[in-house]
Amino acid sequence: MITTIEIKIKPIKKAKIILLATKKYGLPDVETWVSKEKLQLFLDWGINVAFGAFPPHKKLPVGVIVGGLEEEGRIWIEALAVNKKWRKKGIARALVNEVETIGKKRNYRAIFVDVDDDNLEGLSFYFKIGFKEMGQIKQYYYDKTTALILMKPIIED
Ligand SMILES: CC(C)(COP(=O)(O)OP(=O)(O)OC[C@H]1O[C@@H](n2cnc3c(N)ncnc32)[C@H](O)[C@@H]1OP(=O)(O)O)[C@@H](O)C(=O)NCCC(=O)NCCS
Repeated sequence: MITTIEIKIKPIKKAKIILLATKKYGLPDVETWVSKEKLQLFLDWGINVAFGAFPPHKKLPVGVIVGGLEEEGRIWIEALAVNKKWRKKGIARALVNEVETIGKKRNYRAIFVDVDDDNLEGLSFYFKIGFKEMGQIKQYYYDKTTALILMKPIIED
């Protein structure tokens, strides 16, 4: 597990940095669903929030998350990626926790995410941290692959 002394989780306000890191760390086609212009606008308006994981002396985060704050008390994870060299150290879990904390403060109900059904790494991670499958949507992505819709409650019924 990471310690807060080694890695700091900080908000990121620049779409360029978020997309650069996301593409580099495992989601090369991120701009097919989040354009730089839209992301910057949504960050400026507070519709999207983003966090990065920064080890000491590093300008580029080694992990990033983008959350969409939606009406109806939902947060949708738009992107999450961690540098291969820094995986399995609790960084992605810490980034999801940060987004979840925002949800708790706003009395949001749940965090949702859609994951490509062939992304076994991503799915294993989300199941491990408490997400459950709510359903599947065929032809969801631009390349017509299937999405699994996962959910983790923020406020238990
Ligand atoms: C999925 C991803 C974000 C996980 O990042 P990470 O920092 O390695 O995850 P964490 O270290 O926080 O893992 C949290 C838990 O999930 C488990 N986990 C993480 N990746 C796993 C994998 N590939 N298989 C099985 N379990 C996994 C960890 O072992 C850990 O469990 P533990 O607390 O019992 O040890 C990372 O692999 C990644 O960037 N993948 C490419 C991009 C992607 O697919 N993003 C998700 C779709 S949006």
